[in-house]
Amino acid sequence: MCRTQAFVFLFLLGLNLPKAKGNCDFLESQKRCVCSLLEQSAVQNYLQCLPATTYELRGGNLERFAGFFKIKPSPEMIDILEALQVSKLVFTDLLVPEILLPAAMEFVFYTPSISELEFVNCTFLQTTNWEHASGLNLKVSSLRLHRVTAAALDDRLDMSILRRWLKNVENLTVTESQVTSIPCKIGKVFTTLYFLDVSGNHFQDQSISTSFCQGAFPQLQVLKLRHNNLTSYDTVCKALGQQNKLTHLDLSQNNFPQRLSSSSCMWPQTLRVFNLSNTGLEHIDPALPPNIEILDLSANKVCTLDLSLLSLKELYLSNNRLQAVPPVNRFPNLEVLSLDQNQISHLSSKELLNLKHLQSLKAGHNLYHCSCSHIREIQDLIAKQFLLPGWPQDYTCKSPPDYQDFLVKDVPLSSLQCNKALIRHGSMIILLISCLQLVLYMFPV
Ligand SMILES: *[C@@H]1O[C@H](CO)[C@@H](O)[C@H](O)[C@H]1NC(C)=O
Ligand SMILES: *[C@@H]1O[C@H](CO)[C@@H](O)[C@H](O)[C@H]1NC(C)=O
Ligand SMILES: *[C@@H]1O[C@H](CO)[C@@H](O)[C@H](O)[C@H]1NC(C)=O
Ligand SMILES: *[C@@H]1O[C@H](CO)[C@@H](O)[C@H](O)[C@H]1NC(C)=O
Repeated sequence: MCRTQAFVFLFLLGLNLPKAKGNCDFLESQKRCVCSLLEQSAVQNYLQCLPATTYELRGGNLERFAGFFKIKPSPEMIDILEALQVSKLVFTDLLVPEILLPAAMEFVFYTPSISELEFVNCTFLQTTNWEHASGLNLKVSSLRLHRVTAAALDDRLDMSILRRWLKNVENLTVTESQVTSIPCKIGKVFTTLYFLDVSGNHFQDQSISTSFCQGAFPQLQVLKLRHNNLTSYDTVCKALGQQNKLTHLDLSQNNFPQRLSSSSCMWPQTLRVFNLSNTGLEHIDPALPPNIEILDLSANKVCTLDLSLLSLKELYLSNNRLQAVPPVNRFPNLEVLSLDQNQISHLSSKELLNLKHLQSLKAGHNLYHCSCSHIREIQDLIAKQFLLPGWPQDYTCKSPPDYQDFLVKDVPLSSLQCNKALIRHGSMIILLISCLQLVLYMFPV
């Protein structure tokens, strides 16, 4: 067993490196072993990591091992690797000569328990020839690269020679790594990929069209393009329109300036979760896919909402320019609604109470007009035991001047004021009736 773990560690260093020594910590709750490279004289203590299923190598420069790229696992070692129970390898804060990667992948190939590979804050040095890794059919189905630096994909040998492996990858994350596009031919290799997160990169409208070319990512269900450099809602829509398995799309934190024409583009009709938060939108295309269940439109410039979505369960409209509650009767299945940080002067409790499934209504930080009837509407909502997150501290009055900045709950609702309003209404009615009588009197039938 100890021997096995010794091999794991050596393997973690990418190769069977005779000179490498390491110091490891075992994090029991995560079953994770975190190792760092040591100077040669130091004591090795990786044995405590026996029960770990995740191994992480953190910190260091692997350049001095670049010469070992030709090492291959021996038959005895292959036996050991095949028996290991490691499911995930993580490489953090490393300088990695790329030439080591194909060799390391060969070790991964002989360790079929490994299903996840992760590189965080790593710099890959020089490019390499992947030719001799081309036959490997790795069992790794989840690959995550976060803040990695490497030569651009376009600049190098055809990565599609890794087809035998990449066609098995289901989950790919490449975030904050200055990626500008995915070459069309590489996208076509990912025939089983269903989760793709490329948030925090430099994708532009045009590179979305080429990256999601016809035939690329045919099984994609979840796509995150958060915080890229997208500027045209219509171009992105056209580029993704043919992703006919897509259920989740995150376009948040891009900047779509005002649209001049209303487009005829259709988003994939399979879409269930659509995140358009913080994208500068003023108008929302009324032709959204009909089965959307979660729609995030928060942090935009929306004044009015002309949508009707019968399946919608969650609607986020925080931090927009709404002056009134939108017509919620067009979302009869709504469970969660957020309207906070708008310019709403009153909550139309009748419509809101008609939503049979509503569980949470967030509506603080608005410009409430604290008249007797409006306060009563809020009280009606509270009486129904709504989850009103932020009540009472986020609900303040903007007007009338006497109550500006009062908490809504602190406005004294003395019966006199409310009656006054009633009397005013009453006298209007009396006036109307008198007019009617007068008219009838003047023009008897
Ligand atoms: C990233 O890794 C380098 C070493 O390659 C390290 O010096 C740096 O502190 C790391 N940065 C972060 C944000 O962890
Ligand atoms: C895919 O991987 C990411 C990051 O590694 C993880 O957060 C996510 O849960 C995974 N998704 C699925 C559906 O397995
Ligand atoms: C985003 O696109 C604009 C216009 O094409 C460009 O000027 C800018 O440098 C880009 N920013 C990034 C981070 O790629
Ligand atoms: C939408 O994206 C933002 C970040 O850009 C995130 O904070 C928010 O939770 C997402 N909305 C949903 C409904 O997942």
